[in-house]
Amino acid sequence: MARDVSSPFMPGQPVREELFEGRQEQVDRLLRLAGEADRGSLRVAFLVGERGIGKTSLAHYVLTAAERRHDVLSAHALLGGVRTLDEMVRRVFDRTLKDSIDRPWHEKLLKLFGSRVRQVGLFGVTLEFAPTHDELAQVVNDFAPAIRQISKATGKAVCLALDDINGLSGSQEFADWLKSLIDELSIAREPVRLFLLLVGLEERRRSLLELQPSLDRVFEVVDVLPWSAVETQDFYRKAFATVGVSVNQDALEMMSYYAGGLPVLAHEIGDATFRHDQDGVVTYEDAFWGVSTAAEVVGRKHVEPKVLSAIKSERYRSILSKIATSLEFEFKAEDVRGRLSEAEKKVWHNFLIRMRELGVIRTVGRGRYQFSNQLHYLFLVMALRGEGQGRWPRRL
Ligand SMILES: Nc1ncnc2c1ncn2[C@@H]1O[C@H](COP(=O)(O)OP(=O)(O)O)[C@@H](O)[C@H]1O
Ligand SMILES: [Mg+2]
Repeated sequence: MARDVSSPFMPGQPVREELFEGRQEQVDRLLRLAGEADRGSLRVAFLVGERGIGKTSLAHYVLTAAERRHDVLSAHALLGGVRTLDEMVRRVFDRTLKDSIDRPWHEKLLKLFGSRVRQVGLFGVTLEFAPTHDELAQVVNDFAPAIRQISKATGKAVCLALDDINGLSGSQEFADWLKSLIDELSIAREPVRLFLLLVGLEERRRSLLELQPSLDRVFEVVDVLPWSAVETQDFYRKAFATVGVSVNQDALEMMSYYAGGLPVLAHEIGDATFRHDQDGVVTYEDAFWGVSTAAEVVGRKHVEPKVLSAIKSERYRSILSKIATSLEFEFKAEDVRGRLSEAEKKVWHNFLIRMRELGVIRTVGRGRYQFSNQLHYLFLVMALRGEGQGRWPRRL
């Protein structure tokens, strides 16, 4: 790239506020809940959506806006890979501390946490919540009073996001802990000003409910859905404009088509396109190149190796390319079978079993299947579409 501006796209990181696109309705709902917590009610929401759809970014955006608009302090705990309650609670308070560093209530929290705060890092610049083993066990049990103390000491309501609870959602211990926390807070004589925002995949929400069905009544479910084409194009226009790059309409349409409404893909495509463009005008050619490059990046970064290795089989690839003829998520086995060659028909049955085992597709009715993950699907579409014609992505 000739220019020395850096890419406005940030695949894999929560989006910067000025590039945050769409989600107005969800933002409004979540801010309303934060406001209610501020006024003394306990609120619990569950933000659901597939990987890469923008849950973490939305949670981040809402917490920042809530701090500005209401009298709240926020903490965003990323719990990917966390499997125990102890570790979860440690991270929650660690985040509460770290996220307060540049905030007016920092000193008050430091005083409250007292000797459990340790300075770490070469120059002692990072703070860490480091309780003893026994203290931690106690905070797990006394989570509600701990939140109340934080709220009292700082004079703020607490907005707490438990993000990526995937490793915890199958745990009976976590489900029971959550249930008793909510029960305890609901019957407390003195209200606790807490907005608890759980974030995860829909199937994790369901597994949590299986373990503790009564949680169903307390969660307000907020769905994060794919962007519309208009939102995707808006996002591209905005992002490229921040670095002084304009985008031709046909290029916009191409990028938006292949992103399929999934922000994570929009960033990968935008990033690759930005790096290819030399003259500050994104043309169809640039976008074409960007989409092709992004398909590879997406495959490498986001699709599990076992799926990639399964689709190395030439017959599987050709079957998939026949399924991926439209941007439909669902397909009927019968329809696809009709389009297969004799050789493909021989492996068709095994193909369906294998793809189901790998979680690429799932059954949704008799002889009807659906791709279970938009990332898989779009990667396959992007990578395989037009492969038969010796070139992809397909020209629109
Ligand atoms: N509303 C949005 N506007 C712009 N970019 C977004 C938005 N939501 C997500 N992104 C981008 O999409 C990618 C995936 O978002 P993320 O919030 O990590 O998704 P999830 O938590 O659902 O997996 C990130 O690169 C992020 O910057
Ligand atoms: Mg996330």
